[in-house]
Amino acid sequence: MSTAPDTQRIVVLGTGGTIAGTAASPDDVVGYRAGQIGIDTLLAGVSMPPGSALEAEQIAQIDSKDMTHAIWQTLAQRVAHHLARPEVAGIVITHGTDTLEETAWFLQRVLAPSKPVVLTGAMRPATAREADGPQNLSDAITVAREPGLSGVLAVLAGTVHDACDVRKANPLRLDDAFASGDAGPLGVIAGGRLRWLRLRGEAGSAAPQVLSNGTQVHPALSRPADDWPRVEIITSHAGATGALVRALCADGVHGIVVAATGNGSVNRELQQALVAAQATGLAVLCSPRSGPGRAHPSAIDRLPMADGLTPAKTRVELMLRLLERAGA
Ligand code: SIN
Repeated sequence: MSTAPDTQRIVVLGTGGTIAGTAASPDDVVGYRAGQIGIDTLLAGVSMPPGSALEAEQIAQIDSKDMTHAIWQTLAQRVAHHLARPEVAGIVITHGTDTLEETAWFLQRVLAPSKPVVLTGAMRPATAREADGPQNLSDAITVAREPGLSGVLAVLAGTVHDACDVRKANPLRLDDAFASGDAGPLGVIAGGRLRWLRLRGEAGSAAPQVLSNGTQVHPALSRPADDWPRVEIITSHAGATGALVRALCADGVHGIVVAATGNGSVNRELQQALVAAQATGLAVLCSPRSGPGRAHPSAIDRLPMADGLTPAKTRVELMLRLLERAGA
């Protein structure tokens, strides 16, 4: 593609998902296979905002429930590579919606990019009669071209979310599939025009901390993915016990995230097992299981709480903290 002087170069990285999914019939929006159509083909069906010069690269072709740490590492390395190119204004990543929030937080924490990195996906496969992917992709490209923008964002259903707040909130519906909880969305986009609704919080607007001139310094970019700390999630619930904690510790886990009840409370037996395991070196972090509101930690809490992250993102957060502690 040729580049006119006033064009902005956007790199689009494909990883699969429903946005690249196919079904046997245009009416089938549930019984489809994710991650079937290549990123070049997806882009060919999208109306581009004027003045965009695009490059495409296929990083993976998966259903995002099968996302791996190794793919995350490759993705982060490729994002870092393209961001270091002065002619690149921003990056768009097509992704399955099921683990999009985890990838968004991983990339924000590992790269804290000084240019926009925009994740998008779709709730309906590309073959659906009214597929939502093409508009989402076009909107994501518009946001990635926004001057002065930085950090990792998610753009779906005409709404812009911050990586730290975004979560999948509905398994099927188009408009409500993603939400940003108490913080609310960052902006809305319609007719190719972006309107901001609020300023970003600290986590989303963090200054680049690990990359300078394209140097890859975060351990997640260099340490082999199968050597990353192992962190698992346990849910606190009625009738919980410490059995899972003891089994995971015996199996060599490094950290446990607890999807906690209410305002971060943990079942007594489960908490006893966690406190005992902490004393032997297990890392523990809690996150409320109850949905979009933020928890308010109190002085009587015996276990630390992640601030405003879903349990799945808290697992990413704890794993990265342990990686950072261990160094490259
Ligand atoms: C996936 O996450 O890859 C499948 C579901 C989706 O993209 O909506």
